[in-house]
Amino acid sequence: MYKIAVIPGDGTGPEVIQEGLKVLKVTSEKFKFQYESKLFNFDGTRYLKTGKALEDNDIEELKKYQAIYLGAIGHPDVKPGILETGILLKLRFSLDQYINLRPIKLYNEAFCPLKDKKPADIDFVVVRENSEGLYKGMGEFKNKGTKDEVALQISYNTRKGVERCIRYAFEVARKRNAKKKLTLCGKTNVLTYAWDLWERTFHEVAKEYPDITTDYAHVDATTMWFVKNPEWFDVIVTDNMFGDIITDLGAMVQGGMGIAAGGNINPQGVSMFEPIGGSAPKYTGKNVINPLAAICALGMLLDNLGEAKAAAAVEGAVIKIVKTKLKSLAAGKMGYGTKEVGDLVVDNL
Ligand code: IPM
Ligand code: MN
Repeated sequence: MYKIAVIPGDGTGPEVIQEGLKVLKVTSEKFKFQYESKLFNFDGTRYLKTGKALEDNDIEELKKYQAIYLGAIGHPDVKPGILETGILLKLRFSLDQYINLRPIKLYNEAFCPLKDKKPADIDFVVVRENSEGLYKGMGEFKNKGTKDEVALQISYNTRKGVERCIRYAFEVARKRNAKKKLTLCGKTNVLTYAWDLWERTFHEVAKEYPDITTDYAHVDATTMWFVKNPEWFDVIVTDNMFGDIITDLGAMVQGGMGIAAGGNINPQGVSMFEPIGGSAPKYTGKNVINPLAAICALGMLLDNLGEAKAAAAVEGAVIKIVKTKLKSLAAGKMGYGTKEVGDLVVDNL
């Protein structure tokens, strides 16, 4: 019996999660596993009512679950930064979800903004460090409010944090068994402390993986290759900030936020799966948002629980409808409503 915590969140989060839960139910019947899910209102609406973001006892409660299924965090009436740090980043940090795994896979070339790129050309995974770097929130103001003001924002990188992330990425490259290539994406030419540590660690860990080819690309060049030669990539490992930036570009080359999913993973603890697109307030409640990113996130959740066949079936059903049914992956342009897209996935399972 799997225990799954569900945080629908704000905006279109609840709508897409509802479709994901529909798919979960059917998948459990077909693949004969049992689960129990519980909804949690850790979101902007609760914050506006109670002033509470995520409390320590909320985290303790979530630790009783095997996985978390998250819709989206972000409310138009809450000042930017509060919910992001108080809920989303707090979840990632408190549960030590030190990997942010973001597959970039094109399912239908008609939805790719790049000319002449086929599904075989766009199929890679970004392993984003998810617990350190610039996201650590270290820094300070000096002489705040004066003309001599200085703002420091520190990128915090530990040997242990970098090493566990790099090792995880090598394991992903081995398990994928595709090009068996791992690219370190950094900025060794300018950020000479952080990326010196990353590079040294990368080469040391690489010795344990003689079956994996290694490569290096500066982050600026990486964005160029994503557009020009995405077929060069298999697995990419990078820090928290660069990973945030390059995976938005990755989402676009795979067809947009409507299909992009990610996992916040603690390999020894509770992991959390989410569509990466945000709460999209302007589409809320209109049955127009694409639920496929949330459904793909559910597939990743199932894979993480060890239900590999169920996960593959979910992905297969998504591929089928992306190839044969949808007119577009964008909100309002799919040719179907949110619920109908969820139904199509269920029908194809
Ligand atoms: C993401 C988001 C978050 C991040 C924000 C909402 C804090 O952009 O999941 O990529 O920066 O990690
Ligand atoms: Mn982001």
